[in-house]
Amino acid sequence: MTDGSPANTSAFPAGIDLRLPIGVFDSGVGGLTVLRALRERLPDERFLYLGDTARLPYGTKSGDSVLRYSIQAAQFLVQRGIKYLVIACNTASSVAVEALRQRFAPIPVIGVIEPGAVAGCASSRSGQIGVIATEGTVQGGAYQQAIGRIRPEFAVVAEPCSLFVSLAEEGWTDGPIVEAIVHRYLDPMFAAHPQLDTLLLGCTHFPLLLEALRAAVDPRVAIVDSAATTAEALAADLARRKLGAPGKFEPAISLMATDGPQRFARVGSRFLGRPVDARQVELVDLVR
Ligand code: DGL
Repeated sequence: MTDGSPANTSAFPAGIDLRLPIGVFDSGVGGLTVLRALRERLPDERFLYLGDTARLPYGTKSGDSVLRYSIQAAQFLVQRGIKYLVIACNTASSVAVEALRQRFAPIPVIGVIEPGAVAGCASSRSGQIGVIATEGTVQGGAYQQAIGRIRPEFAVVAEPCSLFVSLAEEGWTDGPIVEAIVHRYLDPMFAAHPQLDTLLLGCTHFPLLLEALRAAVDPRVAIVDSAATTAEALAADLARRKLGAPGKFEPAISLMATDGPQRFARVGSRFLGRPVDARQVELVDLVR
């Protein structure tokens, strides 16, 4: 596996409707940064996005709870009809990829961790990569393991940066408070590990803080995230499995949330990079 796409190639029964959407889920709005990259890379595909806003955040929950939530989210999308499943949440990807692959086969499942690890390994020259993520993702060790599978000789330093999630949702992406918090998390990491030359953003929210992060670290440190590499891996796997859309269909994106369509639309607009109309966000219930 070199591009982060799934190794499992179990086939759909013949006759799968290629116009079916690609299902994407996240704990809330964060995965919209991933959806944005998917849509840019695959403009002819339809996407069905589910944000589990009722149970956000996943990053501070136990692995067992996140796995249970992920199964429910995936089940919901599969029942709606999808041809592929993208786990657009790092925390959910860190615990659920294999379980969802087994449970929902032959629907292919991709998470953001493997593609993120591929991006991090491609960027590093020193062989020392810093990963910042939620507490759950760091403690689960999924990035450390994924990087270790690609480059066993690389060293990984992983640091939970929980407050970054709140800052991104609040829209606080610059200014003295943000700078102070960014330095508080990153300075000790880089002081203790001066050879780090790559900072991997292992959380959907962190790309919104890119400028503040960039300003806080040495200019020689590359900052990479998994959204673009996930989109590349998905595109490659769709082609390999011959699951690409035969043409363009409307609407290209359908959005669903388990709580607060208004807040989802307001906060989500920043993550998706374009206005989201709350009336077009369907309120759904995963636990009935
Ligand atoms: N989407 C989550 C992730 O990428 C961040 C938000 C949360 O903790 O639910 O890990």
